Amino acid sequence: MDNTVTVTDNRTEKQYTFPVTHDTIRAMDLRKIKVNPDDFGMMSYDPAFMNTASCQSKITFIDGDKGILRYRGYDIADLAEHCTFPQVAYLVIHGELPTPEQEAEWLAAIRIHMGIFENIKKFMEGFRYDAHPMGMLVSTIAALSTFYPDAKNVRSHENQMHSIHRIIGKIPIIAAYGYRHSKGLDYIAPEQNLGYAENFMHMMWDRSPLQHLKHPVLARALDVLFILHIDHEQNCSTNAMRAVGSSEADPFLSTAAAAAALAGPLHGGANEAVLKMLDEIGSKENIPAFIKGVKEGKEKLMGFGHRVYKNYDPRARMIKKTAESVFEITGRNKKIDLAMELERIALSDDYFISRKLYPNVDFYSGIIYEAMGLEPKMFTVLFAIPRAVGWLAQWQELINDPEQKIARPRQVYIGYDQRPLPDSYTYGARTEEALVSTH
Ligand code: ACO
Repeated sequence: MDNTVTVTDNRTEKQYTFPVTHDTIRAMDLRKIKVNPDDFGMMSYDPAFMNTASCQSKITFIDGDKGILRYRGYDIADLAEHCTFPQVAYLVIHGELPTPEQEAEWLAAIRIHMGIFENIKKFMEGFRYDAHPMGMLVSTIAALSTFYPDAKNVRSHENQMHSIHRIIGKIPIIAAYGYRHSKGLDYIAPEQNLGYAENFMHMMWDRSPLQHLKHPVLARALDVLFILHIDHEQNCSTNAMRAVGSSEADPFLSTAAAAAALAGPLHGGANEAVLKMLDEIGSKENIPAFIKGVKEGKEKLMGFGHRVYKNYDPRARMIKKTAESVFEITGRNKKIDLAMELERIALSDDYFISRKLYPNVDFYSGIIYEAMGLEPKMFTVLFAIPRAVGWLAQWQELINDPEQKIARPRQVYIGYDQRPLPDSYTYGARTEEALVSTH
């Protein structure tokens, strides 16, 4: 097979042949297509990057039609069932699952950075009591950049790894302190001997009315939820991480930018919307009327549909399984029965079948978080903690890729052609009086 594609420019009747690699042509090859030799050359126009690969990556594979998600070649369901979050984080960062010795070193490297300066605590105390936890998280991660100037040495592997260990170690502390700050509770220091999710729960719930939620089964459920959220290839926040990282801003600043992108309701906030929707539906009897409204375009079935998955989101399947173990401890969150009935009715309805609309990761995650005592305002923060691992792996891949440069898209300019300045804008010609009369 000839791995090329030939394009005919009907304006000039010239033909161009471009090599094809991984079903992709190089956008720069298009620039060879010109009407006149001094033309700029052709570009592709792709708002929202609907069909543009911005990098080559070895981290995450998604087949949206088949509902497949793999990290470094391993199926998400196998990883979630058999591994811990730190093991999968190691895999995503290093490319291979750790040996017992590597795992011990990895845990030690993260634990050593599980602490934050007193100044950071004071910084966080400056937030108002009702500050959104994502706002606190984004700004505090950015503030960490001022504490670790060595992170600016982005080309050094040693410094890259230092920053990676620091961010993975500190992000759950910032998240938990943000929560406690909003509740007026004192900060709980991390406990280094606990598992990653267990320690997060310890910092969230210790010396609080929700102490009983420090439960090993719930910690394992959170560990699984963390695994499911580690990476999802070139989504909006990962793209922000790579774009900011490409300017060689340090990884704390790039992670803050990625977290800011995650904060938007079209990205990390849908699970909160699912809970609101279930509250509004109220009971099973109201589902048919709700579905009718969705089909008439009056509202959306939140937690359904995905830009990439046109089949069941494999993460939603795992989350549904995890829910059962959580409810054995917390008691059944009634919203799960409502959600399952909603799913059953939607998946037997031609509107959803024909549009390939299936539950996504957010359909069940909010229900579990709520059962675990976590408030909707915290949901995006819970997404950011594990996703930081994916952002950092993608950032490191970018920095170490010799083909990458500062991210700088082109535009199609559709504004005015050149035009002269109005006379009144000749420098010095405009008097105070003229300014007054034109306003
Ligand atoms: N409820 C009802 N109809 C829907 C839904 C939904 N949740 N999602 C898509 N559709 C319909 C659209 O109206 C459209 O119908 P039409 O062809 O008759 O016009 C068709 O399905 C195709 O939908 P698009 O909007 O083209 O799909 P797109 O890929 O642009 O959007 C998105 C994907 C944003 C996720 C969308 O499905 C949606 O809004 N879902 C609800 C919000 C949600 O759950 N977001 C979380 C995504 S997962 C994540 O980010 C972690």
